[in-house]
Amino acid sequence: MAERIKVLLTEEEVDAKIQILGDQISKDYEGRQVHLICVLKGGSFFMCELAKRITVPVSLDFMAVSSYGSGTKSGGVVKIVKDLDDPIRGKDVIVVEDIVDSGRTLSYLLEMLWARGPRSLRLCTLLDKPERRVVDVDVDYTGFQIPDEFVVGYGLDYDQRYRNLPYIGVVQFESDGE
Ligand code: IMP
Ligand code: MG
Repeated sequence: MAERIKVLLTEEEVDAKIQILGDQISKDYEGRQVHLICVLKGGSFFMCELAKRITVPVSLDFMAVSSYGSGTKSGGVVKIVKDLDDPIRGKDVIVVEDIVDSGRTLSYLLEMLWARGPRSLRLCTLLDKPERRVVDVDVDYTGFQIPDEFVVGYGLDYDQRYRNLPYIGVVQFESDGE
């Protein structure tokens, strides 16, 4: 199915927001070190930009989960595809995600990470679609709340494409009558 991308948030808007989040995190973690956990692949672009704007010491780790299937709806089953390289016990951890949608992935992930004994555990997401929430998730840092539309860019994909767009766009399908 052919699709078009309509700009929802420009590169300038996204960059300005990441600066604000970086400033806030730098302030909140003053005198400490933050351990950022990137949820691959979507969170990677956001995490790099965010990490560059944090002024306290930063360490990084990566994790990949899969909620099965491709397309525009995320499923309910979460599988760890790549686990962290390092333990998180005693660390001040921030999970960095591209988007919180139903909340299933994050609620599962956060519960699993809590069990590993971090000193603190927070969640930072670039985008949040609150209307779509099925499972309650506490989000500590949110870039933008967006309506219930399928978005791509800045790490987010549609069937593995469009992650490299430097802005956030809405996917418009031909069947939308456009
Ligand atoms: P959740 O478990 O339903 O909150 O969904 C989590 C994952 O679904 C996100 O990390 C994304 O990978 C994917 N996802 C949800 N909404 C979108 C979207 O609008 N565009 C691209 N990926 C999405
Ligand atoms: Mg993701």
